[in-house]
Amino acid sequence: MTQQYVIDEMISAKSIAARIEVLASEIKTAFADTDKLVVVGLLRGSFVFIADLVRELDLNVEVDFLEASSYGDSTESSREVRILKDLRGEIGGRDVLVVEDIVDTGFTLSHVTQLLATREPKRLETIALLDKPSRRETNIRATWTGFEIPDEFVVGYGIDYAQRNRNLPYIGKVRFT
Ligand code: IMP
Repeated sequence: MTQQYVIDEMISAKSIAARIEVLASEIKTAFADTDKLVVVGLLRGSFVFIADLVRELDLNVEVDFLEASSYGDSTESSREVRILKDLRGEIGGRDVLVVEDIVDTGFTLSHVTQLLATREPKRLETIALLDKPSRRETNIRATWTGFEIPDEFVVGYGIDYAQRNRNLPYIGKVRFT
């Protein structure tokens, strides 16, 4: 059973769209010489972000997905990261951009980038829509970050609480009642 809660808007759909335009233009510049960029979405939280981001990227893009274990139905990170679904494609010698919804403790992104680095991509960069720096327990920092947020549990724009609220068009803060 999840607790009762209400959702307060924290980042509007409009602000997210504006920030993605800026991020996409920086990514386009950074990967201007690529013949193909493999954009790897971490399931499931990044599915809305990756959809909006790739549509702003005027590059030759391949989209792939990887699923790592996360919070389950809790609001606390498990620290132990397992790969539940691996990439379909090869990334050896490729330009790769890993797309994460939130960097919280950093264990997920750190584990995933270490794993992908063993496959020897030409270049491996990361982007996170949200960053909660005050929660960090690892040294990882995404190459690009959409918004830094305080230590709040958030939902919407692909991000869930116990599989709910992914379909909200904005990022909202969960307030338990
Ligand atoms: P980390 O491994 O602690 O950095 O956690 C990363 C993952 O935890 C994210 O990809 C999310 O799936 C989940 N997560 C972290 N913070 C939140 C939150 O505020 N709401 C929902 N999921 C979150």
